[in-house]
Amino acid sequence: MNMDDLKLSCHELSLPVTEKCNPISRDIDRVNGKQMVQILRRCDAEIFEKKDHDPFHQRLYSSAVIQTMVDVAKRVEMMLRDPEESVIVLSGCGTSGRIAFLLTSFNEMMKAQKQKQICSYIIAGGDRAMLTSQEAPEDDPALGAHTLEKICAGKKHVLFIGISCGMSAPFVAGQLDFCLQHLDIFTPVLLGFNPVHMARSEPMQGCSFHFKDVAERMTAEQRHEKAFVLNPVLGAEAISGSSRMKGGSATKIILESILLAGHEAAFRGKRTTPECISGWITASEMVYETTYSHSDELAALIHQAGESLRMKAHVYYIGWGTLGIIGLTDASECVPTYGADFDDIRGFINNGFREMKNKEGDLSCLGPEFVIGHKDFVDTILPSLSQNDMVLFLFAVNDDLHEVTALADQVRRRTSNLHAIAHDLEKFTIPETVCNMFGTILRITWPFSSEEVNSVVMRQRWELSTKWCLNAISTGAHVLKGKVYMNYMIDLRVSNSKLYTRAINILQRFTGCSKSECVRALLRAIYSTEDLSEDMTSADVWKHTDAANRRDRVVPTALVMIQCGCTLTEARHHLDCHPVIRDAVNACFNSSKTKSTVD
Ligand code: F6P
Repeated sequence: MNMDDLKLSCHELSLPVTEKCNPISRDIDRVNGKQMVQILRRCDAEIFEKKDHDPFHQRLYSSAVIQTMVDVAKRVEMMLRDPEESVIVLSGCGTSGRIAFLLTSFNEMMKAQKQKQICSYIIAGGDRAMLTSQEAPEDDPALGAHTLEKICAGKKHVLFIGISCGMSAPFVAGQLDFCLQHLDIFTPVLLGFNPVHMARSEPMQGCSFHFKDVAERMTAEQRHEKAFVLNPVLGAEAISGSSRMKGGSATKIILESILLAGHEAAFRGKRTTPECISGWITASEMVYETTYSHSDELAALIHQAGESLRMKAHVYYIGWGTLGIIGLTDASECVPTYGADFDDIRGFINNGFREMKNKEGDLSCLGPEFVIGHKDFVDTILPSLSQNDMVLFLFAVNDDLHEVTALADQVRRRTSNLHAIAHDLEKFTIPETVCNMFGTILRITWPFSSEEVNSVVMRQRWELSTKWCLNAISTGAHVLKGKVYMNYMIDLRVSNSKLYTRAINILQRFTGCSKSECVRALLRAIYSTEDLSEDMTSADVWKHTDAANRRDRVVPTALVMIQCGCTLTEARHHLDCHPVIRDAVNACFNSSKTKSTVD
C-alpha cells in the first residue's frame, strides 16, 4: 500500500458507517441497468446480514437489537392501553420525517378497532418538507424541542421516537434532550444506524452539547429502561451518505415491526417476544427477496427512466393510496440528492392532499411542487406529454382498477412509454386486460390469502417493495445520466452542517489533501472569491451553508480547483465544458495525471 492509499483508508476508517463508501457499489457509475440491480440488491441484503458476518457491530438480527425492539413494543402496548393520556410521536428530518409520516397510517389500525388514534409525526420544516427539501430546520435543536413540546401538551405519557439515520440531525438531538429532561412523561427512543461512538460530535447551533452527548446519555438511561437506543448497523449506502435508501427502508421495517407487535399485544393478547419481532423482520426480508427476484423488469424500468432523463425529458409516478405517497417521496428526494429539477421526476397521487391526510392539509397554493393530484397531472402535464417522458403507474389489486384503466387509456393516447409496478395476490389477481395496457409491468403476485387483502400489513409490504423499486429506478436513472462519480454524489447542495462536513470529506477523499486545504477551496467556491476575507474564514458553518445554498456546483468547483491547481474562473470554465459531472471529474483527474507525468 502506498502512502496515498494509506491516507485514504485512514480517512475512510474515520467516517461513520452511514457516510462510508460501500465497496459493493464502487463501480456503479460504469455498469448497465442489469448490473446495477444486482449491486443494489447486494447493498440492500446487508440490512438483513446476520451478526456472524460482522463481529464488530450489532446488526438488525442481533439479540440486543431485537430485545430493545421488544422493550419498545411493550411501551407501545402501554400507550395503546391508555389512549386518552398517551401519544406516540415519530420524528425526523428529510426522508426520516417522511417515513415517520407514512408510519402514522398505523392509526388506521386503531380506527378499525374504534380506538383513539394516538400516533403523530413531526417532520423538520413542517408538511412542506414532505415534498420539498427543507434542509435548514434540520440544524435547529431548539426548533425540534419546541415543536415536540407543542404537540405533546397535556399528555401524561409520550413515547417519542427520534429518527436520525446518521445519528446526526440537531433537530432530533434537541428533541431527545428535551425528553431526557422530562423522563417522568417522555420515553425517548433514538433510531439510527451507527454505533453510538460514531454519532456526530460537532457543535450544534446555540447548544453546549452535541448529538453524541445525547446518544451517550440515552445509552446511560437505557440501563434503567428510561430511554432506548436502537442502532443496528446496515453497512454503507449504495450512494455514499444517501440514507433515503437503506436507512429509510430499515426505519420502516423496524418501526412497523414494533408498532405491529405492540398492537397485537394490546388488542389480541399476543405477548411480544424476541421470536415474534424476528418474525416481522423475516417477513420484510421475504419482501426484499420477492422484489429483487423481478430484476429483469426492474432493470428495464431503470434503463427507461435513464433514457428519459438523458433526453432531458421527465419521469412521472402516478400512484394510488400510500403507494402514491411512496412515489411522491422518492421523486422529491431526487432534488436534494441529485440536484435534479423538481419536474425531472415527479409524483402524483389520487385525490391529492385528501389522500395524503397530512396535518397541514392542502398545500397546493405553495407552488408547482405542491400540485400533486391525478387531476392536476391530467390538466397540466398530459396535454404536453411526449414519447420521451416515462409514465410509471403504482397500484395494487385493491385500488380502483376502473380508475387505473381509465387514466392509463388517457395516457396511452399520448405515449406508449407507459409502465407499471403492480401488486396482487395469488387468490386475487389483476386482470390481464389491465396488465396489457403497460409496456413493462413489474407485477408481483404475493402469496398471501385474500382475507388479508385490506389489511394494513399487506399494504405496508407493498409500500416497502415499491420503495425498493423506486429507489432503484431513480438512483439508477441519475447514475445513467452521469450525476454520480464512482458511488459518490459529488454535486451535492451544501445546505446544512451535515452536508458541509460530507462535502469536505468528499474533497479529502478524492484529492488526498489536508482538511484545511479542502475547507479553503470549498469556501472559495461558496463565497465565489479567490481571496477569502477574515470574516469569511472565521464565520460559523451556518453562515457557510446559508451562502452555499444559493450557489450551484460548489463541490465540483472546489474539486477542480484543488486537483488542477487552477483559479475559480478556470474551474468554472472546465465544468461548463463538461455539463455531465462524471465527465467533468474524469477529465479533471485525467488532466492532472498527465500534468504530473509531464512534471
Ligand atoms: O440533510 C439532508 C438529509 O441528508 C436527507 O437527505 C435525509 O433524509 C435527512 O438529511 C435526514 O438524515 P438523518 O436521518 O441521518 O438525520
